Amino acid sequence: MKFISLLYKGGFIAIALTGAMAPLPLPAAVPVYLNDEKNIEERIEDALSRMTLEEKIGIIHAQSKFSAPGVPRLGIPELWCTDGPMGVRPEVLWDEWEQAQWTNDSCTAFPSLTALAATWNPEMAYLYGKSIGEEARFRNKSVLLGPGINVYRTPLNGRNFEYMGEDPYLIARMAVPYVKGVQSNGVAACVKHFALNNNEINRHTSNPIVDDRTLYEIYLPSFKAAATEGEAWSFMGGYNLFRGEHASYNPILMNDILKGEWNWDGAVISDWGAVHDTESAVKGGLDMEFGSWTNGLTNGRSNAYDNYWLATPYLEGIRSGRYSEDELDDKVRRVLRLTFRTAMNRQRPWGSMVSDEHKQACREIGEEGIVLLRNENNILPVDASKVKKIAVVGENAIKMMTVGGGSSSLKAAYEITPLEGLRNRFGKDIEITYSRGYVGDTTTSYNGVVTGQNLADSRTPEELRAEAVKAAREADMVIFIGGLNKSDHQDAEDSDRYSMELPYGQDALISALREANPNMVVVNISGTGVAMPWANKVPGIIQAWYLGNETGNALASVISGDTNPSGKLPYTYYASLDQVGAHKMGEYPGHPSIDNLGNEVMDMPYNEGIFVGYRFTDKNKLRPTFPFGHGLSYTDFAYGDVFVPKVMKKDASAIEVTVPVTNTGDRKGKEIIQLYVRDIKSSVERPVKELKGFSKVELEPGQTEQVTFKLGRDAFSYFDADRHEWVMEPGDFEILVGASAGDIRSKATFRAE
Ligand code: BGC
Repeated sequence: MKFISLLYKGGFIAIALTGAMAPLPLPAAVPVYLNDEKNIEERIEDALSRMTLEEKIGIIHAQSKFSAPGVPRLGIPELWCTDGPMGVRPEVLWDEWEQAQWTNDSCTAFPSLTALAATWNPEMAYLYGKSIGEEARFRNKSVLLGPGINVYRTPLNGRNFEYMGEDPYLIARMAVPYVKGVQSNGVAACVKHFALNNNEINRHTSNPIVDDRTLYEIYLPSFKAAATEGEAWSFMGGYNLFRGEHASYNPILMNDILKGEWNWDGAVISDWGAVHDTESAVKGGLDMEFGSWTNGLTNGRSNAYDNYWLATPYLEGIRSGRYSEDELDDKVRRVLRLTFRTAMNRQRPWGSMVSDEHKQACREIGEEGIVLLRNENNILPVDASKVKKIAVVGENAIKMMTVGGGSSSLKAAYEITPLEGLRNRFGKDIEITYSRGYVGDTTTSYNGVVTGQNLADSRTPEELRAEAVKAAREADMVIFIGGLNKSDHQDAEDSDRYSMELPYGQDALISALREANPNMVVVNISGTGVAMPWANKVPGIIQAWYLGNETGNALASVISGDTNPSGKLPYTYYASLDQVGAHKMGEYPGHPSIDNLGNEVMDMPYNEGIFVGYRFTDKNKLRPTFPFGHGLSYTDFAYGDVFVPKVMKKDASAIEVTVPVTNTGDRKGKEIIQLYVRDIKSSVERPVKELKGFSKVELEPGQTEQVTFKLGRDAFSYFDADRHEWVMEPGDFEILVGASAGDIRSKATFRAE
């Protein structure tokens, strides 16, 4: 009878009991405990006790590009994964990256995760996670491969657009609701890429050399929050190495930290093709192997799943007594837990695809994430009573960006380009001309998904520029829409950018356009920072990211003033690589070396340590083009005096800080109030300031709000590597509140006993 009860709880009675395909009817009332976590543990043990060794080995590795087989005999279903993290990937062939040519797998392409982070709005992160999770659920996926939360260490990293910026606190606050939103659908988030996967160049051999304090203060906090507060059901290991082992089965990262210190009960999934050895994978805390080629990474072999490191070689190792079954059982339990939480969760909702709600979410997140970087003489919003003709220039005004960039590439149900968005919004009142200005990347397909655009252009650069300059001269206003794209060495997986400069001669074109017509706005579309040598000369600058389906509408909404911009930068906008700790002090892209296993690796010392992003520019008194946290509004906000009690008692677990903020302009708007802390005197070197709180408030003209922050002791602590614990030293601390890391409006000090 036990057998029946197990299967009945999972809802797969018929197949197991009768071996027939027609399911027996389920009992009329479905017991409420079906989705009960306590009950899951019972079911795991029960299932485990019934599985053969071969079945156990079977469920811990792939059977296709994106699925694992489950245990058909016991009614445990297949487990399907999908990319992630900005939309649900179109269906690929069983054993290929190429499209399966489905006609019903178009998705909502949501804004890039950098854009989400730029909203600084955890509610948007929840909405994002919930919406993308609904799409994953509708497509019957159990695991969404995202969010990506690696720290922005260098602006050259090709995958910055898939991540959430440079600050561990901001990333953590945004990642937790994303994870919860996804998982509210009975779909697991798979938080990636754990850990230290901070560049794409040499991504399989990069060997970051990082001290413990830096690891715990900068590179781990967002992952810890996703695991412990977000309770993410799965994690993906990175391709890179760390202290002599690959990240996907790194005993320090996976066993000691993730499953040990953080007591996490989820399943570790390898990155695709990140496994290179059976023994290390067995011992290093990896639970599921995906995407392996059987000859390391170089040679593909079709349908080689039995040859995976965690397949036959592991099975034989157990049979010969080389490995015990204990490690295997731990992996199997974790995979079963993942399955019970997702594919066998009978109370999960059904999900939905490209719904009106998802379009709306996409647009709202895009509008809130766009960052107005500069607005001299209030050039924006466009005043339709004065501007009768706008010259739009630049390839990114017409190029569809949801296709390309690597595993996050999508088959979007539709994509409104910036030019379409502007024409939709202004078409009746303002004449809009378009000139391309330069030809960058004419690719219009990725892995078989085609945009349907034809971007071929045979004109010379001189002809293109002359046309654009003429159009600029004849218009009342120029809107240049350029930046990067998703081709290799731009914002794309598996390669980093070569430099911070804009490609395709855009800087020279921007200067020529400005000469022709100084009434100019530059819209930079990218997922990472670019050099802007013209930043002080162009009156309007917008950072517009990749915004998915609703790109053009969201952008036009901000340009027209229908939306009052409220995004702020989730990373420092450096003027040059000299201002970046990783390039100035650390090594990038590292130097060749041989690791302890005899492998050729690229050692990459993170000599800048904890001084990443604004922590580095603050310390070295550098002036970036735009500071971390910067972003303007069409209204103004005044900050009053910050209040903090004079003393934090020895036994107090937290301290409360308040600051009044007033909308002093004449439009409703949202402000992101940022709170940084500084340890005035410390026994160890600490950053000049660190973000430890933020709050996004919406204020009517003239309205004031008292914004309150509650700061626990962790906000003031550093990681003492020798003691392996967080330490808050007694003494004086400063609270700094402001509109960005470069615009502190009010300060106060208190003494911690
Ligand atoms: C990427 C992952 C992705 C996986 C599956 C890998 O190349 O690094 O982020 O989820 O492929 O497409």
